[in-house]
Amino acid sequence: MQKIVKQNDTLIVPDNPTIPFIEGDGIGKEITSSVKRIIDKAVEKAFGGEKKIEWMEVLAGEKAYNQAGSWLPQETMDAFREYLVGIKGPLTTPVGEGIRSLNVALRQELDLYVCLRPVRWFKGVTTPLLEPEKVNVTIFRENTEDIYAGIEWAAGTPELQKVLKFLKEEMGVAKIRFPETTSIGVKPVSVEGTERLVRAAIQYAVEHKLPSVTLVHKGNIMKFTEGGFKKWGYALAEREFPNETFTENKFNKIKTEKGLEAAVSAYNEAVESGKVFIKDVIADAFLQNTLLKPEEYSVIATLNLNGDYISDQLAAMVGGIGIAPGANINYNTGHAIFEATHGTAPDIAGKNKANPCSMLLSGVMMLEYMGWNKAGELITSALETLFEKGIATSDLTRFMKNGQAKSTLEFSEEVILQIEQSIS
Ligand code: NAI
Repeated sequence: MQKIVKQNDTLIVPDNPTIPFIEGDGIGKEITSSVKRIIDKAVEKAFGGEKKIEWMEVLAGEKAYNQAGSWLPQETMDAFREYLVGIKGPLTTPVGEGIRSLNVALRQELDLYVCLRPVRWFKGVTTPLLEPEKVNVTIFRENTEDIYAGIEWAAGTPELQKVLKFLKEEMGVAKIRFPETTSIGVKPVSVEGTERLVRAAIQYAVEHKLPSVTLVHKGNIMKFTEGGFKKWGYALAEREFPNETFTENKFNKIKTEKGLEAAVSAYNEAVESGKVFIKDVIADAFLQNTLLKPEEYSVIATLNLNGDYISDQLAAMVGGIGIAPGANINYNTGHAIFEATHGTAPDIAGKNKANPCSMLLSGVMMLEYMGWNKAGELITSALETLFEKGIATSDLTRFMKNGQAKSTLEFSEEVILQIEQSIS
């Protein structure tokens, strides 16, 4: 078995890497088998049979519970740890089993600190925007901190009483409006957590020659947590990427010291020399701006909760909420799990209706992460061709003018045909 490994900051990918996959619950079974077949075909076509993925099934979710008595067996964790790169279908969230979410458990166990969500429009897909082609952003959402850390106490519990007492007596907090009936959550945001996320976003923008990274925050209200994110993000850019970036911070400094003209000229010079512009925006303004002037945004770096809202809004803007791909990555260790971003769709499970594209495009992200871009491009261009012709699963065709609804299997065959027919 050949393993992907990380050596001196570089991912080394053998020709026949073993890649663990979780089939997923509900529609997972249908989409995962299609996705593997399509990826295999694209890899074969792109590399003339020189490269091939060795798929290795690992269990999680209902299938794991039924076969192994555990929602997330240790062997599954071990496999992702050992083989570095994996892919997963959607998983049922167990109710009352002591695990909040299997996805969250996987992210925490492997410390997958970046939730990566690229958002682009495919011609032919109906969207609520007049000019959806202007949306092309990549979201870096922090995955391990913020209010998502799960540190909270329910109203009326003895634990909450203790926290309230501490806040009142030790910290002098007198601002809690209804102490008798309040619940409390904690929002940890650290320098380390911010820096590794912002570093990954800037590196991505530099490598892909993208124009800007925008830090999205609510630092105007939450001064030390979200405000810290902004401050530490700028500081990191200026310290670690002085030759690759030009910050809004610096722009403002030049403006104050030497006037607007000097600042604009420094900015223009930076843009001309291909530097990435690092700017920031408050989250509510950002959501407005994405609708009014989406072309102003390229790479987004944001905290966990903001990232959750932003990912869904942007995906909806390109009509792609059902086809939006995603990945959870630790760029230091190399661990990465690519995933369908939707759920298990119990209402259509087993009906051969599910759209495989969210998981498929996550597979494209995986191929790019492995450096097998040629195979990823074949899949992307096959989807571009099909969507433009109105060929898709029914969740998309019902909004298309020229839509021809296909089943999961039929659509997958169409994708494979496109890949076979493409000129390599
Ligand atoms: P859902 O995403 O499964 O379904 C919402 C709606 O979207 C349904 O009408 C469904 O038919 C449709 N849909 C979803 N994926 C589709 C696809 N590929 N093709 C066509 N239509 C699709 O969300 P829901 O119903 O809230 O959750 C069901 C289960 O999935 C729950 O147990 C939930 O916890 C879990 N879940 C898992 C996620 C994951 O593993 N990443 C993410 C979200 C939910």
